[in-house]
Amino acid sequence: MESLPAAGPSAVDRHLLVVFGATGDLYRQKLAPALYHLVGQYGLSDRFELLGVARSRLTDQEFRAHSRAAIESAVGRAARLDGCGTPGEWCDQVLHYQTIGDGAPASYEALRHRIERLEAQRGLSGNRIFYLALPPMAFPPTVRSLGASGLGRSSGWTRLVVEKPFGSDLESAAVLNGILHESFDERQIYRIDHYLGKATVQNLLVFRFANPLFESVWNRDRIDHVQITVAEDGGIGDRAGYYDRSGALRDMVQNHLTQVLSLVAMEPPVSFEAEAIRDEKVKVLQSIRPIRSEDVVLGQYAAGNRRGGRLTGYTDEPGIAAGSATETYAALRVFIDSWRWQGVPFYLRTGKRLATRLTQVAVTFREPPVPLFESFQRARHQGNVLYVRLQPHEGFDLLFDVQVPSEHPRLATMPLAFEYEEAFGDLPDAYETLLYDVMMGDRTLFVRADEVEQAWRLYTPILRERTRPFRYPAGSWGPREADSLLGPHCDGWTVRLPGGRHRDDVL
Ligand code: BG6
Repeated sequence: MESLPAAGPSAVDRHLLVVFGATGDLYRQKLAPALYHLVGQYGLSDRFELLGVARSRLTDQEFRAHSRAAIESAVGRAARLDGCGTPGEWCDQVLHYQTIGDGAPASYEALRHRIERLEAQRGLSGNRIFYLALPPMAFPPTVRSLGASGLGRSSGWTRLVVEKPFGSDLESAAVLNGILHESFDERQIYRIDHYLGKATVQNLLVFRFANPLFESVWNRDRIDHVQITVAEDGGIGDRAGYYDRSGALRDMVQNHLTQVLSLVAMEPPVSFEAEAIRDEKVKVLQSIRPIRSEDVVLGQYAAGNRRGGRLTGYTDEPGIAAGSATETYAALRVFIDSWRWQGVPFYLRTGKRLATRLTQVAVTFREPPVPLFESFQRARHQGNVLYVRLQPHEGFDLLFDVQVPSEHPRLATMPLAFEYEEAFGDLPDAYETLLYDVMMGDRTLFVRADEVEQAWRLYTPILRERTRPFRYPAGSWGPREADSLLGPHCDGWTVRLPGGRHRDDVL
């Protein structure tokens, strides 16, 4: 097993970062600003050169101007970071561009020459990262061409970064993994699920395994049920073509929600190294009971209102057919057949155009065995619930009951709260974390081939059995039918909002 290098600029080997899709949205909105930040924050200015690759015929100067505009629109025109200067200065120093034209062998041959020339000019020793910021149909031909042109081999290390989606079902994911493995070893492959780059998602492991207080009650004896909510207030934006083929199960559940579920449910790893952690995540997926169609409720947003404004229904969005049956919401009941979790339901839900944007895990602990305080008055009682606020207002709330000082005995549920921002200021963007880890060669936060396939194994049957989704008003918390998934002890779907409101129906 590779041991992790020490953190810091010197731990990053000098390399060439080759970004395919360098004129696309992902590069413009996420990668370019994240790289600029990273360089400033960790002093990486001399650690890499960046070669943008795309179909368009651009000069180096045009690509630098494109990148500079992207960074400035994210960080502001006046930005100037110690260690890399202004966005314009940084772009001029390290950015280069090469067209890949129609992707024919001759274009890859030209790319190879350009890479070798750059490496010689800039004194690089052949360490390369190929980042595929491309639409999924472009992965197979690009990876095969990289292999065929010999670019996958060099005198240094080579890493391949792939963005989601990794296939659209079990079969296509296995085919894609097969294609990646024709030219790259699994240890060279970094599959990105950007949820794993979020500091609060990573912290689930620290929270659980550095705090015996919580880990000792993290099991079927003490936990009644767990809810994971990934709610989005936004709609599908300009991604109609992609989204209508995908839907919430593929777009969010198979990856982001399943990753959060794995981290909440996994056993302690034997060490904090990539393979040890990924092994335990895979075991969670292997122990999930097959999900039946009655464990799933799907929804699609209809027109609705939010804060006085009218919201369009899904089938009226530009590019969506009137009869589309694609789900924009999914709620699931999942059981993990393991010693730790036997009998504890995990409820997962996600949706577009919901009431607000948030990602939270709510862990509800069992009630006391003897209800000593039944005769006490109480404001709405929720018992011990731990809310892990993954975004926004990142932090934790642990709810517990206290006696309110008054003439008549009365109980109230109060929070013990921790706020990330208060303690540590702004959190890094997920892409900064993930790019840095690729540069360091740390695979912990990336998804392994067997993990992807296990996740698809769970959801492929329900994708095939999908029925027409229920409709829910845009701006609401999704279809009421999703309540039917919840067990008798559940007091509804729950999230915690600023100000302490904690139930769907209080909005
Ligand atoms: C992406 C999905 O992977 O995650 C989008 O394709 C979704 O549909 C996005 O909006 C949500 O990410 P975040 O970080 O905004 O919660």
